[in-house]
Amino acid sequence: MIKVLLIGSGAREHAIAHALKLAKEDVELFVYGSSLNPGIKELAADYKVGPLKSNTAMASYASLAHVDLAIVGPENPLAEGISDVLGQVGIPCVGPTKQLAQIETSKSFARDLLTEYKINGCPKYKFFVNEMGLKEYLMELGDNFVIKADGLMGGKGVLVSGDHFNGQAEGLKLAIEFIKNGSQVLIEEKLIGQEFSLMSFCDGDHLIHMPAVQDHKRALTGDKGANTGGMGSYSCADFSLPFLDEDDIAAAQKTNEATALSLKKKFGVGYKGILYGGFMATQTGVKLIEYNARFGDPEAMNVLSLFSERTFPANPAPDFLQVCQAIVNGTLNKVKMDLKKQATVVKYIVPEGYPESPVINQIIDVSKVDQAKVRLFYGSVDQKADGLYLGGSRALAVVATADDVDQAEKIVETEIKKITGPVFHREDIGTSELIEKRVKMMKELRS
Ligand code: GLY
Repeated sequence: MIKVLLIGSGAREHAIAHALKLAKEDVELFVYGSSLNPGIKELAADYKVGPLKSNTAMASYASLAHVDLAIVGPENPLAEGISDVLGQVGIPCVGPTKQLAQIETSKSFARDLLTEYKINGCPKYKFFVNEMGLKEYLMELGDNFVIKADGLMGGKGVLVSGDHFNGQAEGLKLAIEFIKNGSQVLIEEKLIGQEFSLMSFCDGDHLIHMPAVQDHKRALTGDKGANTGGMGSYSCADFSLPFLDEDDIAAAQKTNEATALSLKKKFGVGYKGILYGGFMATQTGVKLIEYNARFGDPEAMNVLSLFSERTFPANPAPDFLQVCQAIVNGTLNKVKMDLKKQATVVKYIVPEGYPESPVINQIIDVSKVDQAKVRLFYGSVDQKADGLYLGGSRALAVVATADDVDQAEKIVETEIKKITGPVFHREDIGTSELIEKRVKMMKELRS
């Protein structure tokens, strides 16, 4: 029996908890989250609800529970240095130290690291702390550029020309507003192509790359509507994506490797956790959009669904717990990863009006969903005596695995439609029509 602390309480953390429970060794799960997730609660030996900002509260909870290992789901505790604090009380952590988590928390740090260590994939960029030279740089980039406020902005600090504003004059005004509000501003060339996520398990010295996943940020079918945390995602049985070639995957993997190793060179401390590169396949190769220091949400659910079920006699393929242990022990090079060669589709059910004005405290019914065919991971929902209530953000994720994406998508659609209440989801995620559009777009771009 091993005692594990899980920090976080969303659908991503529900998937982490579920994957831990499939391990060959019994896991006694202790959870510290900002809300009570009914799915995680069922799997936990103990569950504490508290603010994720309080490192001392989390560390004393972990010490009292005598946990052997901690896994951090969201970025905020990493930004606040939870990994360092747990380390001080002798608890190894899947999640980098505060210094290394800057790869997510500071856009300037991430870009400058790539430049300093000559790592491939960095787009043209410049930072501004005041207006000096700003107008001239925008003129140099032309009409296609991106404005990013530095720091953790919860996905709200990125403005893209053509999507959020038009032309240099409007862009200049917005960049100046960010500066006036106290942000350092990153201006970079706008990347055109297809986005994908390439996450890697890192133990400080070695990396194991996960299958590539494509997330869908826009709220509505056809990539319309507001940006969200991610409405759903898919991955393919060959661990690549239909619009990528082998060189693209190799390039993204190399960038993650070079980044993890450069972090160690720079600070003398290894990056232990998940390194999540958000990449864009472009006409001129793979470019890094941004780094995250944690699992993607929903991407974690794609990847974690590929770990083998708990069987008797035990399946020899390494389970998720063994990978976490190898991360903290620095032994990932000894892990012979053997994920299921299957496709995965994840779709989030969200409240009507999400993300701008979601309905909350409305009941939804998931009882008709066939949980032998799909997994349900709970996000922003409250379990009350008379049922499950919407909390206002992404409510729950429906996940299927199958031999190909088309089959997995159809399974998810059949089951997700059985959920009733004031909710919606993106019907097009994982469909052949949408994937073919992406393939065509990339072909045209590269021809
Ligand atoms: N998939 C988007 C994120 O996790 O940040």
